[in-house]
Amino acid sequence: TWTTTNVVEESVAAIREQVGTKRAICGLSGGVDSAVAAALVQKAIGDQLTCVYVDHGLMRKGESEQVEKDFVAATGVQLKVVEAEERFLTALAGVSDPEEKRKIIGREFIRVFEQAQAELVAEAGAAGEDVEFLVQGTLYPDVVESGGGTGTANIKSHHNVGGLPDDIEFQLVEPLRRLFKDEVRMVGQELGLPDEIVHRQPFPGPGLGIRIVGEVTKERLDLLREADAIAREELTAAGLDRDIWQCPVVLLADVRSVGVQGDGRTYGHPIVLRPVSSEDAMTADWSRLPYDVLSRISTRITNEVDQVNRVVLDITSKPPGTIEWE
Ligand code: XMP
Repeated sequence: TWTTTNVVEESVAAIREQVGTKRAICGLSGGVDSAVAAALVQKAIGDQLTCVYVDHGLMRKGESEQVEKDFVAATGVQLKVVEAEERFLTALAGVSDPEEKRKIIGREFIRVFEQAQAELVAEAGAAGEDVEFLVQGTLYPDVVESGGGTGTANIKSHHNVGGLPDDIEFQLVEPLRRLFKDEVRMVGQELGLPDEIVHRQPFPGPGLGIRIVGEVTKERLDLLREADAIAREELTAAGLDRDIWQCPVVLLADVRSVGVQGDGRTYGHPIVLRPVSSEDAMTADWSRLPYDVLSRISTRITNEVDQVNRVVLDITSKPPGTIEWE
């Protein structure tokens, strides 16, 4: 019979069997899947696992802390945090095109992650050759989509770190391969992960980088982080988190409009709220949020966030609009 307790016990046994006395690495994204996969592997092999979290500076307010503090507190996992904000912002300077942004963020991410992996192998010294496994939060739908293949990840090291081989070959550990998303959440709960992680709404890999229409700068990110935090806070307070698939908050950085705030005229930026309901993100409808909640979000954002003098609501379904603005 399928119970989360059984799933956890069987997974733990299978991971122990697969990894033995070797070591494993797992990248954490802040999302549910990698968190639950890491927690399962941690339960199975403890300190033989090290997690890596790349902070690219494009996360929302509190999200990095959630990984660095709450996740570690809940699991006791060994974590290597790589601060890479400056590197990502430098690479993104002057870029406004959405696909170009995605390419840059993806490329930098792989480089930073591989460098961290290579460092972990080097730090393990003589035991470095035991670092044989890479943990991934692949779900059943991902397996089906990609034709069910499995095996090794052949990772090319673009950044050669002193004396290490160019190619590090890892075996994949994919403990969620037979699970659907809702089952993954149940397993996460069973493992004692915080609700904020277990019930996290989807968030794109390129993060806030694709929620600033225009060039990505530190100043704009900070501004968007504040607006996004307010929207999330009010949606949570209204008990709407589980009714909404996700709610991108977007900064139209290249648009300015006239407003009147405090003692005078302002010339600021609009913030777009994009709450949607959806089953699978392939199609979506705009969420009919209560007016009083929208009103509180709007008032707070325009009062509390510098340079924002307008809040607009996106009432487009998907199609024709995508969920994200970029
Ligand atoms: P769209 O905007 O295409 O988004 O309707 C569908 C879902 O995918 C997420 N999304 C991304 N996730 N990297 C990701 O990991 C991306 O580049 C990306 N773009 C969109 C989006 O948040 C929504 O859940």
